[in-house]
Amino acid sequence: MDRYLVFGHPVRHSKSPFIHTLFARQTQQELEYGLAEPAVDEFAHALRTFFDQGGKGCNVTVPFKEQAFTLVDCLSPRAKRAGAVNTIKLTDDGVLLGDNTDGAGLVADLKSHGVTLADSRILLLGAGGAARGVLAPLLAELPSELVIANRTHTKAQLLAAEFHDLGPVTSQTYEQLAGPFELVINSTSASLQGALPPLAPALIHTDIAIYDMMYGASDTAFISWAKQHGARQTMDGLGMLVEQAAEAFTVWRGIRPGTKQVSRELKRNLGVI
Ligand code: ATR
Repeated sequence: MDRYLVFGHPVRHSKSPFIHTLFARQTQQELEYGLAEPAVDEFAHALRTFFDQGGKGCNVTVPFKEQAFTLVDCLSPRAKRAGAVNTIKLTDDGVLLGDNTDGAGLVADLKSHGVTLADSRILLLGAGGAARGVLAPLLAELPSELVIANRTHTKAQLLAAEFHDLGPVTSQTYEQLAGPFELVINSTSASLQGALPPLAPALIHTDIAIYDMMYGASDTAFISWAKQHGARQTMDGLGMLVEQAAEAFTVWRGIRPGTKQVSRELKRNLGVI
């Protein structure tokens, strides 16, 4: 049977095996999908061993995405732009192809929630790996402006300069930010510590869409905060997780699974509904 897995550390709580097992059932593909948690300095060896032993493809998550970028034989254009790899496929001619489906997953999830990206003014919070991974796919949707704000402003400036050739991307400090924005995407890891990015409440209005790339069984700190200040449309990263997985499954198997039912089952599994 074709073997796939996700590499991460820690990875025990990953929902990827759950999601891909449902995709395989739905599309009647015979495959198995597991977990691997190598020590941080043993990832390269573990990756090679997996493919030497017949593995067909894998996902890569924190903290290995940047390392995976350097270990594959060739990169898709979107992985090159992201500077990170979250999906690897062994091609029929034995080449390890590195891809990145995170940004496509975010865009697909935003669209499935009816969020308009074309001609919208988008605010992206954070300038780390998560932000870098979604910039190109967001700019491909032709927003009127995409503003990056980050606690360490120089990182936002560098990121905006790096992606400037792809569209109207600028950077501002949190203090400089002036609305209105139609969409705010939180790519910071602040919610992990229950903290908030220092965003002025005045930027939140009833028609704004709020997206937190983090997720949990209950609202993230950022989503709770945005709701308190009047945001009516809030979304967390659970949908992005399922959509990036669907994109990876499509890369591996050449068949696109449906995501609606799988999202519902995942929410039930997490105790969200
Ligand atoms: P990732 O790969 O998940 O993006 P990262 O590269 O460590 O992780 O980046 C984390 C991002 O969250 C950064 O933009 C970080 O801001 P700094 O560059 O100033 O460190 C941001 N971040 C983390 N905690 C934050 C907080 N409490 N408030 C605001 N931004 C925060």
